[in-house]
Amino acid sequence: MNYEDEYIANTYQRLPVNIKRGEGSYLYDVNGKTYIDMMSGYGVAILGYSNRKIRDAVCNQMDILPIAHASEYTEARDKFVKKLSGIVPEGFNKFYLGNTGAEAIEAAIKVVKKSSKKHKLVAMNNSYHGKTLGALSITHSNKYRKYFDDILIKNVEFIGYNNEEDLEKIRKDEDIAAVFFEPVQGEGGINIPDREYVRHLREITEEKNIILVADEIQSGLGRTGKMWAHQNFDIKPDIITIGKGIGGGIPLSVTAGKSEYMDNLEKGEQSSTTGGNPIACAAGSSVIDQLTPELIQEVQRKGELLRKSLHDGLDNIKIVREIRGLGLMNAIELRVKFLPILMDMINHGVLSLYSGLNIIRLLPPYLMGDDDLEKASSIISETIKTYYNEVNK
Ligand SMILES: Cc1ncc(COP(=O)(O)O)c(C=O)c1O
Repeated sequence: MNYEDEYIANTYQRLPVNIKRGEGSYLYDVNGKTYIDMMSGYGVAILGYSNRKIRDAVCNQMDILPIAHASEYTEARDKFVKKLSGIVPEGFNKFYLGNTGAEAIEAAIKVVKKSSKKHKLVAMNNSYHGKTLGALSITHSNKYRKYFDDILIKNVEFIGYNNEEDLEKIRKDEDIAAVFFEPVQGEGGINIPDREYVRHLREITEEKNIILVADEIQSGLGRTGKMWAHQNFDIKPDIITIGKGIGGGIPLSVTAGKSEYMDNLEKGEQSSTTGGNPIACAAGSSVIDQLTPELIQEVQRKGELLRKSLHDGLDNIKIVREIRGLGLMNAIELRVKFLPILMDMINHGVLSLYSGLNIIRLLPPYLMGDDDLEKASSIISETIKTYYNEVNK
């Protein structure tokens, strides 16, 4: 398998795994080795791999009609948006359908731009909204921005996440059109803001007529044990962006909001040849059907089980700074760089993600059984302990 290394552009940090197939919460490599998947393809495989219902919906749609441009009406899209209207926050009655999370953000930026006479966008420190140029403009990390700064949107300011004092900057500034925020930061390291902070953020943005965009691309669709992560704080944003799991593995994303905002985008101002294609919509309908309140409740319970198991396994291990999370969006923050630990975890059959240099991020499929969550947790704990004992020899 050297063609990927030869031909794929060098933009991804590659892991030493060569996956052949997936089933449920397991991935199998070309040598038949099994992995418990704690990363879900960066949070996409929320309903696991080879999900029969998604498969059937996609295959069936492939037979009927694989592509219909958004200028044409088609049944699969019609059904999908009806179902979507049943899960988005109340009153969110207009959707822009794209393919990737970054596209949903691009559309949100345009909606905001056309909905407000004010000029500035505010985003948060440690934010991640994607890497297309608009999305990158509100993504904080200098690592991603540094060579492109001069071609990014200029009117962007970053404020501290979960920083009450910085909210005063918003209150005092008369030129802010919108605030973009992740209700739980994903790439930034699974950062959970305080309830009071989020409520103040909503109060101030409402008071100042600033559009609040909640990026739910990673945190939405039940991942935190609520359909939308912002519900953990009992607030309602003005616009949300949805991606990752919504297409069950087929690229699909959504920018959703009230028509008073969304209708400001006019014909031709945003489009995508394949956005909202029938196959993605058929998959999306199947995902929404399976995202029952019972399943989302299970995400909450399983998250608690996972955190308890990690706490038990990692009690008193000094290189662990913190275990935190909501639902099945969790992190282990270490005092050391994760790389050797992550590699050892892969050797022991657990795949996980990371944030920065020292945070292990866990985003397992919602359907993972308790036994596998506990097994993965025990492998993770043992791997961290082994590393700790090695360096303390
Ligand atoms: C919160 C958030 N927003 C936006 C994106 C970008 O999505 P995509 O990679 O599909 O463009 C991501 C991806 O990780 C994300 O986590």
